[in-house]
Amino acid sequence: MRYLVTGAAGFIGSHLVERLLAEGHSVVGIDGFVDNYERELKESHLALYAKHPQFEFVEDFIERLDLNAVLDGVERVVHLAALPGVRSSWGSSFEDYASHNVYATQRLLESALHSGVTRFVYASSSSVYGDAADLPMREDARERPHSPYGVTKLAAEHLARLYHRNYGLATVSLRFFTVYGPRQRPDMATQRFLTAARDGTPIMLFGDGEQTRDFTFVADTVEAMVRAAERGHEGAVYNVGGGSTVTVNQLIEAIEEVSGSRLQVDRQGAQRGDVRDTCADTTRARADLDFAPTTPLREGLERQWQHILASAKPDTQKT
Ligand SMILES: NC(=O)c1ccc[n+]([C@@H]2O[C@H](COP(=O)([O-])OP(=O)(O)OC[C@H]3O[C@@H](n4cnc5c(N)ncnc54)[C@H](O)[C@@H]3O)[C@@H](O)[C@H]2O)c1
Repeated sequence: MRYLVTGAAGFIGSHLVERLLAEGHSVVGIDGFVDNYERELKESHLALYAKHPQFEFVEDFIERLDLNAVLDGVERVVHLAALPGVRSSWGSSFEDYASHNVYATQRLLESALHSGVTRFVYASSSSVYGDAADLPMREDARERPHSPYGVTKLAAEHLARLYHRNYGLATVSLRFFTVYGPRQRPDMATQRFLTAARDGTPIMLFGDGEQTRDFTFVADTVEAMVRAAERGHEGAVYNVGGGSTVTVNQLIEAIEEVSGSRLQVDRQGAQRGDVRDTCADTTRARADLDFAPTTPLREGLERQWQHILASAKPDTQKT
């Protein structure tokens, strides 16, 4: 199969590209190196497969690419490119969120219609739920995003559904819940906390730490994407949770155990846009995709910790 993976230099995209290439597929990757974090880090992801004979890379924003040319010969699209992050989506940066998350998705869907694409998997987010009245979150619950980021992820998900309902494009949307693991984005809590444990620096904790998150190990998220691309029901939406819902305070305790370091916690107020709890009901993904997460939180944290230790710059390495 020939896949297009957007956001191919990002955290989740890099794991998906590795998996698809290992399975013998050919992959076209797009990434525009949006400046949400260091380009150097994204380049280090890309370096893992840039020279693979079955991999081609296109560097640009989806908004300005000739997508018909990129989609030539592509059978399956996994659309991960987006500007992520809840807290930074307020104010003037919303224009970038709208462009990268909504307009780019509409362009890609439109071009996919006129190509040989047989499956279009869209990476949505638990942020579409907002502060849900009922937990665990079910796909048929009313979506009420609590941040501008969540609004853009829901808008793009609606676009995917519209292209399915009106034109028959075989779209599948996956709502990811707090993905963690090696190469996680530097702005995400698990990466910040593990890095601070390594470096002996304080962490900033937003809110009282009793907020819960459904942590999903990145390999489990990749497994769900692969299954959705192969057998997801057309037009469907699936939660992809890790089955490890814990409070942020419990996450900190687990990180202290894994790293053997005590974290110095600088407590800050809750941030606008952050929701109180997330917890996925994965009944639908189990039924249609035969998907079940397999990596418990403790094991996933250990893998992320080992990766952080191995990628430390010499001056930050512990003796
Ligand atoms: N990480 C999570 O916990 C999480 C949770 C829910 C949903 N998601 C979704 O998963 C996807 C991947 O997230 P991630 O954590 O890997 O983020 P990431 O920032 O590491 O990866 C996204 C990549 O997309 C690229 N990109 C963004 N907009 C682009 C555009 N318009 N054109 C070309 N390239 C563009 C960026 O340069 C980046 O490398 C996103 O759609 C995000 O909304 C992630």
